[in-house]
Amino acid sequence: MSTERISKEIDGSFAGNLDKIVIEQCFSFSAAFFALWRSLKMHGENNESVKHSMRNLFIIMKKLFSDEKTIRFSYNGTDLLVNDQRLKSRKTGEDYLESLRKFFNSISVGELTIPIDVTPSDFILFFRAVETASRNKDNVFDNIDGYLKTNSSNLSVKMFVESQNEKPSVIDPAQMAREIYRNLCEKFKELSKKAKTDQPLPLKTATRMIQSLVNLMIDQNSRQKDHLLTLASLNSYRNDTVSTHSANVTILSLAMAIELGVRKKDLVTVGLCAYLHDIAIDDPLNEGSAYHTELGFSYLSRLNSLNFSMMEAALISATHHDVYDFNGFKAISGQKQETTPYSEIVMVCDLYDIMTRWWPGSQKIPSTRPGALHEILSGVKNGAFDQTHTSRALFSVLGMYPHGTVCKILKQPYLGLVIGRFLSNYEPAEVAFLNEKMEFCKVEKVLPSHIKPLPSKECFRIPPHTWQAVFEHFQNR
Ligand SMILES: [Fe+2]
Ligand SMILES: [Fe+2]
Repeated sequence: MSTERISKEIDGSFAGNLDKIVIEQCFSFSAAFFALWRSLKMHGENNESVKHSMRNLFIIMKKLFSDEKTIRFSYNGTDLLVNDQRLKSRKTGEDYLESLRKFFNSISVGELTIPIDVTPSDFILFFRAVETASRNKDNVFDNIDGYLKTNSSNLSVKMFVESQNEKPSVIDPAQMAREIYRNLCEKFKELSKKAKTDQPLPLKTATRMIQSLVNLMIDQNSRQKDHLLTLASLNSYRNDTVSTHSANVTILSLAMAIELGVRKKDLVTVGLCAYLHDIAIDDPLNEGSAYHTELGFSYLSRLNSLNFSMMEAALISATHHDVYDFNGFKAISGQKQETTPYSEIVMVCDLYDIMTRWWPGSQKIPSTRPGALHEILSGVKNGAFDQTHTSRALFSVLGMYPHGTVCKILKQPYLGLVIGRFLSNYEPAEVAFLNEKMEFCKVEKVLPSHIKPLPSKECFRIPPHTWQAVFEHFQNR
């Protein structure tokens, strides 16, 4: 073998392979760190599986220590890094990275420094510090730092400081819920304008928004469903009725689709269909006319005809105020009706939001939320329309007194705003207590027998600062 050939072989792969080995070690380290944390949480400190995880972690660290005297395990607000090597999720099954990001975020730690003379008890001490400090939400970082110093740990922590970081800051799930809602409202106008001027719709942006909404709604840990359903009871965000209506119908439709067991990969389609169903309304005063449904169909089918979700969205935009018989004619009450499954979802949520809101130009006093649910279910019963499953699913999503219901707290000088789901007569749910000036006072769990919804004529509007305080409660709990 010539010298030239040998050098080529070395140049071509050696350095690259070495990098790959180091990257793999960094991934293995974070997986082992996570495994230790998890087994400590599950089994306590004196357990064989903890000892096994600890041994594994030290074997991996030994390799990482070969060049450096310390391992810096850091979090920059977006990614985890081991000695400046960024750890990006590469495949499914690396959920531990997400859990670790949340872990660092929850304790406000930007960097954990592990020196070469670290001992297993340093790690035990560190996780004990985290456990103790996390019980008190205030100053979690300072408590961990203090604990480590008092106990002369070899491990040290640096605080995560947002302003020193160029990366976008991490927001917690409650902030994310509000941001998604705000984006849904604000982007709707832009989408609608583009559709009306024959420009392609920025579907990627819309899809991303809906995807984030889906992720948040199906994440059991984020506990944002009640928050989102309460947001979806807003009447008009920044005085824009149509955008707010679209955002509300999107959230309600997704909550219902989840309840009905729609597959995860199809949830974005449901969300998009709901979001775009009224895309052709240019003036809320025209909502009553059938014109916006025909126009909506033409916008969505013409502009993005090759996209499956858009075909479904176009159909729903066309039919969301009507039902058809099997011959394609508009159905008469009592006749067998035909819709698409997603259309059924959007129709019922659309109806519920319309019934419960003030709409510009309409003299109709909105129904109370429990009243609207009752009307929808009675409509199904007496054959006025056929959306049996979706109507029941709406009831199941919203409960006896839907989010946003204004009620009287019995035997107490408070009004209530329902922000949780009342599942039965025997289970309490969260209600925001408001004083006589409609100011937010506190949140308590109460039984349904302790509240009485106000009649629709007395259903006055909640002032914006009260809404704000209610939403902040979701932040702090
Ligand atoms: Fe409509
Ligand atoms: Fe609508």
